[in-house]
Amino acid sequence: ARLLLLHGPNLNLLGTREPHIYGASTLAEINDAAERQCNAAGYELETMQSNSESALIGRIHLAATSDVDFIVINPAAFTHTSVALRDALAAVAIPFIELHLSNPHAREKFRHHSYLSDIARGVVCGFGPHSYTLAIQAAIHQLGMAPR
Ligand code: DQA
Repeated sequence: ARLLLLHGPNLNLLGTREPHIYGASTLAEINDAAERQCNAAGYELETMQSNSESALIGRIHLAATSDVDFIVINPAAFTHTSVALRDALAAVAIPFIELHLSNPHAREKFRHHSYLSDIARGVVCGFGPHSYTLAIQAAIHQLGMAPR
């Protein structure tokens, strides 16, 4: 089985981007740890970051025809703006977990609404880089429960 870890806009800047909010880990460190975590459980991981809504949607479409069984996504700012990302995830019907480093509910009001949460298997937020560890762990658990 394969997992796809998607990162939305500005997450390429992790490590230097508002570290008091997002932590000190770089995206490369987060991806490496996620890959080790998946491989240890016997799953393959693919990762992709894009600042472009179009590229993320394209990657989600590709997932449907390339044996991706589960998606873990930090949609970043597109969480709060993108009906198109929601529609793409609904269209491919691949189960997914939404995650955030920060806790958007404890921040500005415009971050309180997500276009994805109600169609996600679950949402993890507020634990900094550890949110990724928790979300991948949950994805692995979900995959283990799925009939194959
Ligand atoms: C984020 C939270 C979003 O509100 C924000 O736009 C981001 C990152 C997080 O991981 O905490 O870019 O998704």
